[in-house]
Amino acid sequence: MEKVSNFRDVSIPKEWDRKGLPSWTYKSKQLLEIEKESLFFNHWQLICHQSDLSSIGDFLTFDLCNERILIIRDNENIIRAFYNLCRHRGSRVMANKKGNCTAIVCPFHGWVYNLDGTLRGASQPKSFPKFNKKDFGLKKIECEIWNGLVFIRLNKGPQKSVKCLMSPFSEELGNYKIDKMVPTDGIWTQRTEVNWKSVRDVDNEGYHVPMAHPSLQDLYGKNYFDEPFVNGISKTHASFSGKTARNWSVKNYKRFSSPASHLPDKYKNSWNYFGIFPNAVIAVTPETVQFYQEFPISTDLTLLRGSIYRHKNETRQQRVARYLSNRIDNHTVAEDVQLTIWSNESMNSKSFEGFYLSDLEYGVKSHHDHMRRQIPILKIEKQPDEHLIYKLNKEMLENISLK
Ligand code: FES
Ligand SMILES: [Fe+2]
Repeated sequence: MEKVSNFRDVSIPKEWDRKGLPSWTYKSKQLLEIEKESLFFNHWQLICHQSDLSSIGDFLTFDLCNERILIIRDNENIIRAFYNLCRHRGSRVMANKKGNCTAIVCPFHGWVYNLDGTLRGASQPKSFPKFNKKDFGLKKIECEIWNGLVFIRLNKGPQKSVKCLMSPFSEELGNYKIDKMVPTDGIWTQRTEVNWKSVRDVDNEGYHVPMAHPSLQDLYGKNYFDEPFVNGISKTHASFSGKTARNWSVKNYKRFSSPASHLPDKYKNSWNYFGIFPNAVIAVTPETVQFYQEFPISTDLTLLRGSIYRHKNETRQQRVARYLSNRIDNHTVAEDVQLTIWSNESMNSKSFEGFYLSDLEYGVKSHHDHMRRQIPILKIEKQPDEHLIYKLNKEMLENISLK
């Protein structure tokens, strides 16, 4: 066992099964439904930063695997999460992606809700028998704010609080004063025609960086290190190489990088990435914090989503550095999107025998292991009958809990 973390008790075994998930798991519609329930709905999902909703009445909406979400800052200054679903006939109560309001007015028949989700009143109330308004508030969603980042969870799951989940990194991330940061360009989204796991597989290892990401290679060189997933979190550390960069953006980024004065020296020359199972990453640089994540739309369509935040009193130099780091990131995202497409395509080839992973790709293995624990049918190599997948997985889960 090789010790690989300064932060946690993490090691990589000398001998391990170097296979990835079987190819059918990237194509099965039934499995995707199980993944939504067992991974996306019952694990914490990072939705935004509290500064995306800076004023009372600010809201944003988001569709998480067909479930409509509304996040809003109420009159008490509390950020709350609800299903964006009218209690009358199920319309979206908020049609826009973001905005500000003094009340939530359903665009279908005009039922009005207060900012705390309680029903203020139905339109033409005399057309209904008398009912208790308390029974018709917007349905609440569990919401937790950690370091200024807003997380929601639709169903209770294996993770405790976000605070508890992220505790191994709380001291390090506390140095960045993320809660004081403000948005830059808002939340971005992009669709890509692959299974969501192909996106995560690519992002969970840095073995591809020297070949596929010339800019990052120029920035970090060999000073890049992935820690695997343990207890739902992972980390990647990348400190700037001492070599002169060839890439224009990297060369100038290194020149202009201007860390905030509150950042301890050891974080001033590095980019660090904190993975949150199953689908999100918080990335910090000396100038910014960002999150990015992926959500399945169908077995072969995925929504990429993210946002970048900056220091409130950003200096001119930090602004330049942020512009340059954005250029580096944009190249990286485009390169990764192509890699995910090629990786996902391989799942359709009869001749592909599956992954054969390097020690440097142990992050992929540890993510797959986390998924296998939640969805044991992922361990089955040969594709089961599609209509039996749900039943078989349930039986396997029951057998595990009996042991
Ligand atoms: S569906 Fe909202 S008022 Fe009718
Ligand atoms: Fe990459």
